[in-house]
Parts: sequence; structure tokens; C-alpha cells
Amino acid sequence: MSDAPRIRGYLFDAYGTLFDVHSVVEAGRTITGDPVALSMLWRQKQLEYTWLRSLMGRYEDFWAVTEAALRHAIRRLGLTASDADVTRLMDAYLSLACFPDAREALDRLRGQRLGILSNGSPKMLAAAVASSGLGDCFDAVLSVDRAKIFKPSPRAYAIGPDTLGIPAGELLFISSNGWDVAGAKAFGYRVAWCNRMNAAAEELGVSADLVIRSLAELPREGLA
Ligand code: LAC
Repeated sequence: MSDAPRIRGYLFDAYGTLFDVHSVVEAGRTITGDPVALSMLWRQKQLEYTWLRSLMGRYEDFWAVTEAALRHAIRRLGLTASDADVTRLMDAYLSLACFPDAREALDRLRGQRLGILSNGSPKMLAAAVASSGLGDCFDAVLSVDRAKIFKPSPRAYAIGPDTLGIPAGELLFISSNGWDVAGAKAFGYRVAWCNRMNAAAEELGVSADLVIRSLAELPREGLA
């Protein structure tokens, strides 16, 4: 271990890191023969809308952004969906599958300060955490909703150290989303990138302190 400060808490991104957003594919099957394409475009637009709304200074919570992204994706792919179909697809977001390595990692880290810091609205996060059975794992489930701006705004990342009372440099932020890794590192967290899919690193002038292929590889103590 270097002389870098000890890690005193772990903050996880939610969607794509703990919860698999592409578990909505099944729900998409009733409106399209290519539910993977729908899921990919839906997720892409969801993220774009968070960035655009943050830049525009027009925050709406992640539930509203997620529904708007879904409606756009349906239109763009030339699909037909009733309001009931949209409701059913949105409901799938409340019970996303948890990645298998998440439970294992959280069990191993038990006893440490553990939290989530996510763009998700409080209602969405509470539902996802409860339905995946991870409710007993976290000291804090933090939504950017209290800052009314999305990651990668520094105001969103500041919720972590402000709430936990631990400086960002002593917190390990864990995300599978490359843009989120860059945002968290730029803010001042120690950062682990869980790169399950062997994705190419972003070129944003900052890089993770640690790159792992599975959450199960998270270090219990410091970073080497
Ligand atoms: C989150 C999304 C952006 O949980 O992955 O914040």
C-alpha cells in the first residue's frame, strides 16, 4: 500500500454496476422482435438526457428522464406501444436483476461503510435495492435528487462525502460506467472501474485508481 489515505467507505454506482439495466430486455419482447436494440437505445438516451438536462439547467428526476428516453426510443425504432406497454417496461426498472458478483462483494465488505450514490430517484433506488435483496447491505442509499443535478456534476458527487462525513479522497467510488469513473475521479474520489465487458477506457484526462473485471475483486483494505 502506498502512503495514500486508508479507504474508510465504499460508494457504488447503481445502474450498470450493481443492477443490470439490460434485464428489461424480456419486458421489451412484447413490442419488438429486437428487444436488445430497444434496451441499448433506451439506456443510451436515458444517459444523454441526464447530461443534456444538467447542462440545460432543467432537472427532472431519473424516473421522468427514463420514461422520456423510453418514449423516444420507441418512436425512433418505429415501434408501437400503448401507455400500458410503457408502464410495464418502466415497471421492469423497479426490479432489475442484480449482477451476481454484487452480493458476493457486498458480503465480503460487510463491516465497512457501504453506500450507493446514483442518478436514480429515491423511489427507484429503494425498489431496486429491496427487490434484489440488498437492503441489509448499505448504510446509505444516496440519490442525486437532493442536488437536483445528475452525475457527472461535482454537486452530485459531493453528496457522498457530505452525507458520510468522510473526505472524497478516503472513499472508494465504484462504477462500471466509464463516464462515471471519470466524473468521480475528477471530483476527487478514489475510483475503481468495474470493467466487466473489457470496454475501452474513456479519454477524459483522468483514469481509475484500480481496474477490476468483477466486483468480487474489490479490495477489503487499502488500494495497492
Ligand atoms: C447511476 C446510473 C447513471 O446509477 O448508472 O447513477
